[in-house]
Amino acid sequence: MKIVEQIKQPIHEEMELFEQKFSDSMTSRVALLNKITHYIVNRKGKQMRPMFVFLVAKMVSDGKVNERTYRGASVIELIHTATLVHDDVVDDSDRRRGFFSINALWKNKIAVLVGDYLLSKGLLLSIDNGDFDLLKIISVAVREMSEGELLQIEKARRLDITEEIYYEIIRQKTATLIAACCSLGACAVNGTTDEVEKMRKFGELIGMAFQIKDDLFDYGTEKIGKPTGIDIKEQKMTLPLIYALNNSDTKEKAWLINSIKKHNKNNKRVKQVIAFVKEKGGLEYAVRKMIAYQQEALAILNTYPESPYKASLITMVNYVIERKK
Ligand code: IPE
Ligand code: IPE
Ligand code: MG
Ligand code: MG
Repeated sequence: MKIVEQIKQPIHEEMELFEQKFSDSMTSRVALLNKITHYIVNRKGKQMRPMFVFLVAKMVSDGKVNERTYRGASVIELIHTATLVHDDVVDDSDRRRGFFSINALWKNKIAVLVGDYLLSKGLLLSIDNGDFDLLKIISVAVREMSEGELLQIEKARRLDITEEIYYEIIRQKTATLIAACCSLGACAVNGTTDEVEKMRKFGELIGMAFQIKDDLFDYGTEKIGKPTGIDIKEQKMTLPLIYALNNSDTKEKAWLINSIKKHNKNNKRVKQVIAFVKEKGGLEYAVRKMIAYQQEALAILNTYPESPYKASLITMVNYVIERKK
């Protein structure tokens, strides 16, 4: 059985129902919007965030989910989709999930508006149903994600990023939403305050590993459904590069910074930078850090009694760092 099928086994029915509800949650009276949201729904991603919501909910409640759980999962996936649509504008990226990105097909103007639409649809789904505890969790994540992306741009401009700041960026832009999935999963089934906080921490840790993995993909040549090698072009300094910088002599450092500052659109130079980072052991270092976060996340899971949901979460935590896309 494929690993994703294995993870989904104890939440198979929930995921089927979720897909229907998620698709319904996007409908609009505006024909252009419907056309675009159909395009989005037909090219679904890995759906790891709703999987986290259902698995955590079932793990803390002995297998019971409710309508709040479904709405929470839909809100999170709506917000995730909105941020991807915006992120591809910000990163000037023309591919997503193996197809053209929204900005590539309909231009930035429309992509910005579609992202706003999806975001507001998500928030309204909580508001209209009085899920204010869930809305609080989600709103914090939305604020942090924007801050994270802006902090990244600020650092990309000045090229003065440290490893600590990198962790802060990825915590905000990516780990917070995965933390929200897990705390919301526990909160939706009325878990205790301690349990909700424990799951938030679990999600944050695995979210950190998740983004380090994503940043490693950018150094690879595998087909992952979106462009690779674009982070340096966008002057995005991720962990492998930061490590290489910190382990270079003055001359090498000057060459690296100059490459990123002035030659970031030059394919040949970008390839040289990538080769340099690899030679310095930047990828291995990032892998080590990723595994450390994954292990910390596993340790939290291990405080729970055995269940099919816990078993799936363990498989998922391993999948985060072993996945091929
Ligand atoms: C992509 O997230 C954005 C990041 C936080 C790296 P996913 O890799 O979960 O995207 P999809 O939903 O599967 O396409
Ligand atoms: C994650 O960063 C983006 C979000 C938090 C939306 P990236 O820019 O690395 O994500 P990808 O690689 O485009 O999916
Ligand atoms: Mg991007
Ligand atoms: Mg990326």
